[in-house]
Amino acid sequence: MPIITCVEDLRLLAKKRVPKAFYDYVDSGSYSESTYRENSAAFQSLKLQQRVAINVDHRSTASTLIGQTVTMPVAIAPTGLAGMQWANGEILGARAAERFGVPFTLSTVSICSIEDIARHTTAPFWFQLYVMRDRGFNTSLIERAKAAGCSALVVTLDLQINGQRHKDIKNGMTVPPRLTPANLLDFASKPGWMWRAMSGARTFGNLAGHIKGGDGVIAISKWVASQFDPTLSWDDIAKIKQQWGGKLILKGILSAEDARIAASLGVDAIVVSNHGGRQLDGAPSTVDALPAIVDAVGDKVEVWVDGGIRSGQDVMKALALGAKGTMVGRAFMYALGAMGEAGVARMLQILQSELDVSMALSGVSRISQIGRHNLFQRGSNTPVTRMAHTSFEAAIPA
Ligand code: FNR
Repeated sequence: MPIITCVEDLRLLAKKRVPKAFYDYVDSGSYSESTYRENSAAFQSLKLQQRVAINVDHRSTASTLIGQTVTMPVAIAPTGLAGMQWANGEILGARAAERFGVPFTLSTVSICSIEDIARHTTAPFWFQLYVMRDRGFNTSLIERAKAAGCSALVVTLDLQINGQRHKDIKNGMTVPPRLTPANLLDFASKPGWMWRAMSGARTFGNLAGHIKGGDGVIAISKWVASQFDPTLSWDDIAKIKQQWGGKLILKGILSAEDARIAASLGVDAIVVSNHGGRQLDGAPSTVDALPAIVDAVGDKVEVWVDGGIRSGQDVMKALALGAKGTMVGRAFMYALGAMGEAGVARMLQILQSELDVSMALSGVSRISQIGRHNLFQRGSNTPVTRMAHTSFEAAIPA
């Protein structure tokens, strides 16, 4: 068993174990991948303010997300095709999340279905909805999520048109998918993955049997690609809110204007997200977008962030910038592709222990104590909040 000490170890292991087409599907952004890279780079460039001689003997990473108690303020983000990283990946991810005490979000375009997850878990999970042109289908998905006891609906707003990922096209991850001799050879070189894949589901679990035109991967992928609805509007969101009637999270907000509209609809949380750099290439990193959004609506709605989070230090930085919660997409997918359920459990432990140590070394014992004062302002020895809010100290450098 390899020794895994960080999320990067899981990524490297996934790269060895998962066929290239599916690994690249995860480890890629759209077009030049500049926003994809920027998400992580922006976390790297933020620095934490070290503090000493503060009693941090009794610490806790526990918090709440939309009223739900969580072991740490990190939820597993919705990711399509997780079941192609490791057979039955969504079930394994949901089980690991349940054991750990963090929310798991099932994507509309998952391999395992809503009903599969409900059968294999006891804690309520969250369901992510892509709004389709076929509004009847949306309604049926919402009803299925209710029937499965999902405790929140996550509506993703930033994928009504697909950003192009060059690697996917080259690897045959297209609509319809292209199975090339190179793909087949690559699959054959990953016998563990192949063996598991033979026993797992291999189609879009939420769609097979529920749409017109066939149940095969080719038919469904064509249907999905034609169904993302570019007419999506805030009126639709208001209707979905009414239809769902439960906790609602809007994901894919990157501007303060959109955040204000979302907050005015009375949603429970918004996720500052650029879809992990997979959509609008050239958009800012989520770290850069977050502070203005927190300032605009942080007192009205829970503001969460995702994109580029690979460590507990990154979680700490996101919270320091004012996020109430975070989501992780690739950290989950790498963990799953590397080691299945054990990998996801390990990834969650790693994030929590890194967050815990970062809190301790920053002089913080509770999640609620984290704030902008925990960020170091480069070129000065003054933490960010003191620069921003204590003009006397900022104006007279010591
Ligand atoms: C995603 N994301 C995504 N989002 C969503 O709402 N529905 C989905 O089906 C998917 N699918 C998906 C697949 C893969 C492979 C990735 C990497 C991402 C976006 C995801 O929820 C999240 O916003 C990002 O993954 C966050 O960035 P990091 O943590 O991956 O850097």
